[in-house]
Amino acid sequence: MTARQGIGRANGKIILIGEHSVVYAQPAIAIPFKEVAVTTTITAADSLTVDCIYHQGALEDAPVQLDNLRAVVSSSLSELGMPDQTFHIKIESTIPVERGMGSSAAVANSVVRAIFSYFDETLDDDTLFRLTQVSETIAHGNPSGLDAKITVSDQPLYFIRGETLEPFDIHLKGFIVVGDTGEKGRTMLAVNALGERRRANPEAINALIHELGDLSNRTKAILAGDRVKPLGECMNKAQDALAQMGIPNAVLDSLIDAAKANGALGAKLTGGGWGGCMLALTADPDAAREMQQKLIENGARETWVLEL
Ligand code: PMV
Repeated sequence: MTARQGIGRANGKIILIGEHSVVYAQPAIAIPFKEVAVTTTITAADSLTVDCIYHQGALEDAPVQLDNLRAVVSSSLSELGMPDQTFHIKIESTIPVERGMGSSAAVANSVVRAIFSYFDETLDDDTLFRLTQVSETIAHGNPSGLDAKITVSDQPLYFIRGETLEPFDIHLKGFIVVGDTGEKGRTMLAVNALGERRRANPEAINALIHELGDLSNRTKAILAGDRVKPLGECMNKAQDALAQMGIPNAVLDSLIDAAKANGALGAKLTGGGWGGCMLALTADPDAAREMQQKLIENGARETWVLEL
């Protein structure tokens, strides 16, 4: 017995601090970003079809960018013990694609949720995570799991891979301006390149990875207080460490420099880097609005404001 349609939703995210080092089991802090979100709707059909930005038609004819979607659909159906079921999958998203805002994990989470809802099956958090990680492994190679968790979370998360998943509330007042470089991030390439650099130079890279972990812990404490400047300092230090690891690129650097030149309390990339998005911290909403304007003047494709 199936419901007439199944709907699944998930939200965007920003990683405030700890991207890349989180892959190596250092703590990271991520915040759900509900301004951007994805909805997947499943309806009856006599073959497996999809309607999304990359493809309209048979799922089996979809381009390689949808290999992760194919995998998550077939893994979900196997999990439900009905591998031959068919339906139509419509994916509608406002999360910019490949910009470090969690699009791939959010799509996978929303698809799994929609499939389980369509078949009227209950879905526990561990199963959702496991199935979304099937997709993330294809998209990223070695995903920490942070994106899979934060894109279905209502609260900020303090996360250590395979160890800690701690939702918490932020008390600090502040505004994060998110700037999209307009360039696709290349998370898998950046993660792989860092892995290679770490193999070639373990001492130096491990020291930077630990430094980022310490900064995440300091950030957690700062978010419980009322002093915004130290958060900016942690963001700047994290950006320096990421730069030493070779993670930003020229287009990110130029927006980060513009943010600092225009009074940001701190600025850094967010997500996988090599393109994608950056963050700039301001203390009040007027400064955040001005920062949006400055980032656009300096080449940002789009900006958003997240109030902490
Ligand atoms: O670029 P995004 O949104 O997929 O974020 C990747 C975050 C990394 O720490 C670089 C990778 C990971 O698996 O956590």
